[in-house]
Amino acid sequence: MGHFAWNSEHEVFIAQIDAEHRDIFQLAERLERAIETQAPPTEIREHLHALSAHAEEHFSHEEWLMQSVKYPSYGWHRQQHDTARRRLKLFVPLVEEGNTEAIEAFLEFLAGWLADHTGVTDRMMASFVRNYERAHATSALERWGTSKPLVASAPHHSHAAETGPYPKTLHFCKTCGHQTAHEMRPSGLLCRNCAERSVGVELDRD
Ligand SMILES: [Fe+2]
Repeated sequence: MGHFAWNSEHEVFIAQIDAEHRDIFQLAERLERAIETQAPPTEIREHLHALSAHAEEHFSHEEWLMQSVKYPSYGWHRQQHDTARRRLKLFVPLVEEGNTEAIEAFLEFLAGWLADHTGVTDRMMASFVRNYERAHATSALERWGTSKPLVASAPHHSHAAETGPYPKTLHFCKTCGHQTAHEMRPSGLLCRNCAERSVGVELDRD
């Protein structure tokens, strides 16, 4: 095996994105090693869930960034993320069951997808973002990883305030247990349902 060693061909030349990609490669490598060494199922499950959670968080970060800079190929790029999301959803229960064929197929898929996606699709996006950063006084990257939206705050209760500066996606929330609208924030997905119950005032301030 040894599918997931990080090398310079995976770099997209944006430090924040490269750091997250490195984490994903490292988590995939740990999962692969655990499977190769026939680690206990609980350990394999932990690696798998960590990888899945990091991947989702990272996809949301990239999607936030692409929307912030109005990246013209957002839809195409998002489709590739959605393919990986669907495969993860399909494979995770099979890998958890210890289905060895599924494990092999999953690692093959993941290695191929990561190499193609980081080497082509993410590099194209990163090139656009670097050009954007050079051409605009307002940096999207400076806000990446913080809770500050790129778009200035809108007045309370205006239409813009309702839609908010963050792109939204439907997502199953593990906290409230519902399929709800989630804001794709740089710090990760935020469930509107949970947030409105606990920090509603803060949400309105966005
Ligand atoms: Fe991507």
